[in-house]
Amino acid sequence: MNKNVVLSGVQPTGDLHLGNYLGAIKNFAVMQNENDSLFCVVDLHAITVFQDPKELRNNTYEVIAAYLACGINHQKSTIFNQSQVSGHAELAWILNCICRMGWLNRMTQFKEKSGKNSENVSSGLFTYPTLMAADILLYKATHVPVGSDQKQHLELTRDIAQKFNNDYNSPNFFPLPEPFIEKEISRVMSLRDGNSKMSKSDVSEYSRINLKDDADTILKKIKKSKTADTNMPASMEEINLMPEVNNLLNIFSGVTDKTKNELIMYYEGQNFSNFKKDLSDALIEKITPIGNEIKKLMSDRDNLNQIMAEGVAKARIKSEIVLNEIYDIVGFVKQ
Ligand code: AMP
Ligand code: TRP
Repeated sequence: MNKNVVLSGVQPTGDLHLGNYLGAIKNFAVMQNENDSLFCVVDLHAITVFQDPKELRNNTYEVIAAYLACGINHQKSTIFNQSQVSGHAELAWILNCICRMGWLNRMTQFKEKSGKNSENVSSGLFTYPTLMAADILLYKATHVPVGSDQKQHLELTRDIAQKFNNDYNSPNFFPLPEPFIEKEISRVMSLRDGNSKMSKSDVSEYSRINLKDDADTILKKIKKSKTADTNMPASMEEINLMPEVNNLLNIFSGVTDKTKNELIMYYEGQNFSNFKKDLSDALIEKITPIGNEIKKLMSDRDNLNQIMAEGVAKARIKSEIVLNEIYDIVGFVKQ
C-alpha cells in the first residue's frame, strides 16, 4: 500500500496571522505524526508580486521559525525553502506545458489579485497555480492541508496530474492529491468585516491577529472587533446572519477545545463584553507563546540555517527521484 505524503506551503510575504495558523499551520503539526510530511516556504510564489529582497529573506526565516514554533518537528518533517530545491521550478515548466490556458483563466484568486490591472501583473502571477501543482506533485503528495481559498488550486492540481497521466500513458503515476480543509476554520475572516478574509495585505492592523502580537495588542484588537448590537443569540440560524459574531465563535472554538455549540450555550443572552474578555484570554494563552518562540528562534540564525540545510538536503533527495522519473516519461535524454 502506498504511504500518505503530506505537503503544504506558506508564502514569506509578511507577518503570519491567525488565519494562517488556524486554517493551515495548526493542521501541519497534527498531520506530521501519521505521515511522511513536507512543509516549504514558497519564496518562488512570493515573487509573483515584487518583494523587497531584504524583507523576502527575513520573511523566509520567519516562516521557518513559525513552523517550528507551531510544533512542526524538523526531524519528523522535512522543512525547507522552495527556491533551494531546483526541481520545483523545473517541474513547473513541464506542468505549464500540460495545463491549459482555459483552466488558468478560471482561477478566481488570479482574478481577485489582478483586479482591473490584469494586463500589467506578472505572467508568474498567472501561472502561479502550475508552480503550486509542481510543489505537490514533485513529491507525489497525497494530502494537502490548506485554507479554503486554495481549494480551486488543488482541483487544478488534480486536473494537471490526471492529464499528465493520460497524455503520457502513465496511469496512476501522479496520485490525485486530496485537499485537507477544516470546515469551520478554513476561512478566518477579518475582525472588522465578517465578509472578507483575514489577510496579510489588509491595510487595517485591527483586521487581524498576528502570531507575534503581544497580550496587550490582542486585547485591544478583540475589544475593537465588530460584533452585533444585540446580545449573543441562542441559535445557529441567528448567528449565521451575523458574520462577525460567527467568525469570533469559530476563532474561539479553534483556539480552545470547546465546540461552537458549547460556547453559544454558555454566552447566550449576554452582551459581548464577557465573551470578548474570555476570547482574548484564550487567544493570549494560545498565541503569545508561539509569538515568543518565533522571536526567540529568529535571534539565532545559525540554528535556523542548520535546520533549513537539513530540510533542503532531504527534499532534494526525494524530489530528484521523482523528477528523474518524470524526465524519463516525457522523453528528455539523460546522460
Ligand atoms: P499564504 O500566506 O497566502 O501563503 O497562506 C498560507 C496558508 O494559510 C494557506 O493554506 C492559506 O489557505 C491559509 N490561509 C491564509 N489566510 C487564511 C484565512 N484568513 N483563513 C484560513 N486560512 C487562511
Ligand atoms: N498558494 C498557497 C497560498 O497562497 C501557498 C502554496 C504554494 C501551497 N505551494 C503550495 C500550499 C503547495 C499548499 C501546497 O496560500
